Amino acid sequence: MCGIMAVKGNNAVDRVVSGLSKLEYRGYDSCGLAYMNNKDISIIKSIGYVSTLKDKVYGIENIPSQTIAIGHTRWATHGGVTENNCHPHMSLGGRVCVVHNGIIENYLDIKNSYLSDRCLISETDTETIPNLIDKYISDGLSPIEAINMATKDMLGSYAIAIIIRDDDRLYFAKRSSPLIVAKANDDYILASDILGIDCDSGLIYLEDDVCGYIDNTIHIFDINMQEIDNKYIDKKISEIQPSEENEDYMYREIYQMPRAIERTYRSMLGSTYRLPSRIDRVLVVACGTSYHSGLMGKKFIERYSGIKVECEIASEFIYNDYIIEDNTLGIFISQSGETADTLRSMRKARRMGIYTLAITNVEHSTIHRECDECVLMSAGPEVAVASTKAYSTQLFVLLMLSNIIKNIRSGSCDVDGDFAIVDINRLSNYLPVFESEYSQVFDIDISRFEEEVLVVAQLIKDRDGIHFIGKDCDYITSMEGSLKLKEISYKFTDAYPSGELKHGTLSLVDENSYSVAIVTEERLIEKCKNSIHEITARGGRVIVVTPFVEEFSNKEVVIRLPKINSVFMPIVAIMAIDLLAYRVTKLLGINPDKPRNLAKSVTVE
Ligand code: M6R
Repeated sequence: MCGIMAVKGNNAVDRVVSGLSKLEYRGYDSCGLAYMNNKDISIIKSIGYVSTLKDKVYGIENIPSQTIAIGHTRWATHGGVTENNCHPHMSLGGRVCVVHNGIIENYLDIKNSYLSDRCLISETDTETIPNLIDKYISDGLSPIEAINMATKDMLGSYAIAIIIRDDDRLYFAKRSSPLIVAKANDDYILASDILGIDCDSGLIYLEDDVCGYIDNTIHIFDINMQEIDNKYIDKKISEIQPSEENEDYMYREIYQMPRAIERTYRSMLGSTYRLPSRIDRVLVVACGTSYHSGLMGKKFIERYSGIKVECEIASEFIYNDYIIEDNTLGIFISQSGETADTLRSMRKARRMGIYTLAITNVEHSTIHRECDECVLMSAGPEVAVASTKAYSTQLFVLLMLSNIIKNIRSGSCDVDGDFAIVDINRLSNYLPVFESEYSQVFDIDISRFEEEVLVVAQLIKDRDGIHFIGKDCDYITSMEGSLKLKEISYKFTDAYPSGELKHGTLSLVDENSYSVAIVTEERLIEKCKNSIHEITARGGRVIVVTPFVEEFSNKEVVIRLPKINSVFMPIVAIMAIDLLAYRVTKLLGINPDKPRNLAKSVTVE
């Protein structure tokens, strides 16, 4: 949520603008930047996308090349989408200028107790930060001492980049919102995620409760103002930058699904995992699409390893009275590895003594750094707000995990004290699918769905209230399909187990209604047909997504899935359904990559 970019060095303003475009998926209702102009601070803001900001910036002459610039792309939390609320925010009098990601929970208290003599001009929590720092500087503290004092007063989360009039340092501070520093030759970059970094170079993932500044080098201080060591990590940034082609990211990411899954499988083969040697129960926690993959994971693990799984929505888990049982393995799923609710849940579980296994797509993300063990997906950067390739890859990982857990329970892994050392190459196969069949997923050609998907997209594009139905795993796919369509096309959709229709929702069915029925398991065909008949008997239209085309009469419209091992059907069915959501959205002329009101990485609670 909200992207932060800051550069001290060459072409600072240009690089901030280009970094903001890459971070725009974190929030895109408005954006802005500030730069040091001689000893003064200049600010440029704009409502809407970074492209509009870019036009404004390039209309200005004589922007210094060698300077410091800070920039921000916003996802509004406090106050509407206005230039006044847009970052950067300046202290009264124009000395301190700040961009911020996070929420200052006690901003009203700060305003009333410390800043009552100042008239703040925006509705944001952020505006208190530069004013508080400015107040401490006026009280006689040095800028870094003032920043440290201000952070001690602030409750909540923040990643902030700060510039100060007549000062050639770039300042920063962080708690609970991600912030990375990169050193590129003599230049420094601050970014809220790796996609903003444009050089293959040393990176520092800042820890919580630090502040610091960059002059000729970087200085990081803990909360007690003790300087701490810099821990640089090298990473080939060029490998993780999304390619710049003309198609929408979502479209490309749907087409990348098979390769993403295969890459993840290969990387799992090359890794070993340390897991508890006794697992009697599994707890899965996640949000949104990752929660849906958790629900599917529950199906896989219960079916293939025979133990009880609970799956919780992270924002609920944080506040519930979870009853812990011995030997519980906690699985925390997050594409971004930064989702605040999932992170807080994982911390709660760790406090309860639960061993935490993360499944994430982002190496060095906070969830990756804080978990006990991690399965890193290799899906490549997922930029579109709607999660697609991450979901199908998560499903594949969870399928593998169900076999791992079964192996651990059967005692077929090496043991080191209380831990099983898992090498996937050496596991027995308890899944009803052979490795030689994996290519059924790796080799799927997404374009095979295009023709039928387009026919259906034309049919439903002007309808609202589309019901997704399915049984067992197909019900979970329905939930994910429903979320995807509503998220990007703004149509109201819902999802039901097919058998539940007659318990209420059937009253909504009439000759204007459309339902999408997902039927991928042979054993469920007859039962699903009953539900479909209940709909068609009332004049409703049904689109069936299935490999069993011959089973469905001409009355229904079909999206044909390949006939492959049914173990893989949840992974393959969603490929066609995501494509359907994308096509409907395109027909409606909506940008599928940037759905209104949403952001990719939800780093606030
Ligand atoms: O990065 P995460 O997997 O933790 O994100 C969780 C959800 O915010 C995310 O899956 C969201 O539901 C997607 N936009 C859905 O497409």
